[in-house]
Amino acid sequence: MPFVPIEEILEGNYEGKLVNVRGWVYRKRESKNTIFLVLRDYSGFIQCTVKKESHAWCEAERLTIESSLALTGVIRSDERAPGGFEISVDEVEIIGLAEVFPISKDKSEEFLRDKRHLWLRSRKMNLVMKVRASVLEFAREFFKSQEFVEVSPPMFITSACEGGSTLFSLKYFDQNMYLTQSSQLYLEILIYSLEKVYCIAPSFRAEKSRTIRHLTEYWHIEGEWPFVDMGDLIRFEEELMAYVCQQTVEKCQKELRELGANAAKFAAVKTPFPKITYTEAVEMLNAKGFKTQWGADLGFEEEKALAEQFGKPFFVYDYPTQIKAFYCKTYRDHPEIAMSTDMLVPRIGEISTGGAREDDLNILVKRIREMGMKEKDYDWYVDLRRYGTVPHVGFGMGLERLLTWMLDLENVIDAVPFPRTTRRFYP
Ligand code: 4AD
Ligand code: MG
Repeated sequence: MPFVPIEEILEGNYEGKLVNVRGWVYRKRESKNTIFLVLRDYSGFIQCTVKKESHAWCEAERLTIESSLALTGVIRSDERAPGGFEISVDEVEIIGLAEVFPISKDKSEEFLRDKRHLWLRSRKMNLVMKVRASVLEFAREFFKSQEFVEVSPPMFITSACEGGSTLFSLKYFDQNMYLTQSSQLYLEILIYSLEKVYCIAPSFRAEKSRTIRHLTEYWHIEGEWPFVDMGDLIRFEEELMAYVCQQTVEKCQKELRELGANAAKFAAVKTPFPKITYTEAVEMLNAKGFKTQWGADLGFEEEKALAEQFGKPFFVYDYPTQIKAFYCKTYRDHPEIAMSTDMLVPRIGEISTGGAREDDLNILVKRIREMGMKEKDYDWYVDLRRYGTVPHVGFGMGLERLLTWMLDLENVIDAVPFPRTTRRFYP
């Protein structure tokens, strides 16, 4: 007889039937004549009762929290059981008897993070990982629907994309290399062959920031494509966001409900999103009492204040060139303004950055020099402007920031199975 996932039993199709189930002990309570187990598998939880007269009693008595087991029993509907069904157990086979499990309800967040390898078994993490997988699928579906090709850029790289201050360097045999901060520059190579490309890959930032939105290793959803302008870029990003939200509400209802996420906010994610220029953002901030000078970067506090006003995803665009990366294209009649846009959401602020890329050879080289970067390091990148340059745009969105907003998580740490931050890199 095959093993039945708990979720299927709770759907009600097995009442009165004998089933095999396997999983781990989530809870155990013993009275004189009955042992109550709560069994968990990947799909859910179910209450199981073992009666004293059953020959499963001896094995059930030995079970400890988080022991793995297989059991056979009859499904009965029971209003008192969580989920409405329970298993009346005939046989128990212990697979792996657990030692005293260190995780219990009274443990601190810090403790649970130290024991992440065990905490990942929790219902919360189980649900977050499922939504994470679904969101990745929805993003891929959207790129595919727009005829983008998924590509695989390298993680070992030789020159920075987002400036030297957040680069991780490492020894690569006899020379120094870095971990990639963004796959953008490699995607730019590939547009000359495949045109519309995207990747979903890790990015690394040696960022000392200790906020709810910073990881040192995060997953980056990045797209790049030619023959388009800023309007096309913004439309693509908002449609991607709207698609992912709408699919999540539809297909991950159960997970959203159990996680207690406020799914109502997704209804407000409708295209077109609100858009303001950087200059308007500065004015809005100063009207709120901030003292933001034109030309200054918007920090976490500024972004949160703006996002609170909108209460839903929106764009800020036309940033000062001085705070943007070397590859940003600038307006020919206003070189002080870069064709760059960020998508912001409540509580987190920035979740994506995108823009038009400098496609003029001379302007790009001038910009690399002005920024004091080593021209030699960017030879191949400059070459792209030498052989059939094209106007093109692209963007990058942080997967963990997206999930943190979608699921109302406290911190990006909770959106990734094995978080890497300044202080956390174990397990
Ligand atoms: O704004 P960033 O640095 O832009 C780029 O890397 C571009 N090259 C992307 C592109 O155009 N292809 O990073 C993009 C996004 C941010 O908006 C944020 O969501 C996420 O990556 N991100 C981080 N997420 C978690 N922890 C960090 N330390 C992050 N740094 C950036
Ligand atoms: Mg950015």
